[in-house]
Amino acid sequence: MVDEVKKVVFPVGGMGTRFLPITSAIPKEMLPIVDRPLIEYAVREAYLSGINEFIFVTREDREILENYLNKLFKNNEISFLPESFSEDQNSCNSKQKNLSVSFVVQEQPLGLGHAIWCARERIGNEHFSVILPDELFLANTPCLKQILDIFYKQKGCVVGLNPIPIEQSQRYGIVDGQVVEDSVIKLSALIEKPDPENAPSNLALVGRYVLPPEIFKYLDLQQRGIGGEIQLTDAMANFLKVENIPFHGVILDGRRFDCGSKAGFVKANLAFGLEQEEQYSEIFHYIETMKTN
Ligand code: UTP
Repeated sequence: MVDEVKKVVFPVGGMGTRFLPITSAIPKEMLPIVDRPLIEYAVREAYLSGINEFIFVTREDREILENYLNKLFKNNEISFLPESFSEDQNSCNSKQKNLSVSFVVQEQPLGLGHAIWCARERIGNEHFSVILPDELFLANTPCLKQILDIFYKQKGCVVGLNPIPIEQSQRYGIVDGQVVEDSVIKLSALIEKPDPENAPSNLALVGRYVLPPEIFKYLDLQQRGIGGEIQLTDAMANFLKVENIPFHGVILDGRRFDCGSKAGFVKANLAFGLEQEEQYSEIFHYIETMKTN
């Protein structure tokens, strides 16, 4: 019997260099998609997936983010503004109470793998989830819930996947493996940012993970990978080679927006704007006029 996954880590200690100069004053995760920051969408996804312990790995100068989150989590409950939940979403999860929030400081931005390693004492010896807030999804079923549903069947390690244009393989961790059921792949290898010629598939890791505590054996090694950073994908690739623990990927059902890139961020604002009924027709007509001008 596998324990329930109750914890999520949000790594929010990155430099956000692709969004300079704004990220010299505001962390990337505080940039708004329509009317709320990226981090709120990530928190909401975790909450709707049944998570109740929220761990943020931040940098020292991130008061703006911490203040926002402290307002969101009041009295160990979440206080999203009402319009951020549709009725359906409210009913898909009983209201959880006694939520816990904590912040861990990543002293230096040494990479995503290092950020996760910084949370090791908060995680302890249990399975945990990770959401990268700049990977935003418009999905009927929260993406982390899609992954957890497979985790409770397959156990071990489960990661979120999305098909990408193969010419973009150098931006992603790419997986190899065998389909075991609809949208579920048993993974045999992971390669960080391969050339398109060496990419084993067009399926990329897209910022949603359920990981076992054994991953820390590999993160402890603090090996530097591409860009001199301690990469989570490298730790997972070594884990996959050595450990006899099931490792699956789920092709996520939803529209993905890479909000770490400017084009992805602008597209997300349009798509989420169109989701709001009162904005729909004005945005829609604006897009139509742009096509003809
Ligand atoms: P990115 O690879 O998007 O890096 O990180 P970044 O620094 O945020 O952005 P660019 O590439 O310089 O524009 C993916 C996730 O990992 C976090 C980021 O905050 C983001 O959520 N991260 C990255 C950390 O928490 N710490 C790090 O040292 C690096």
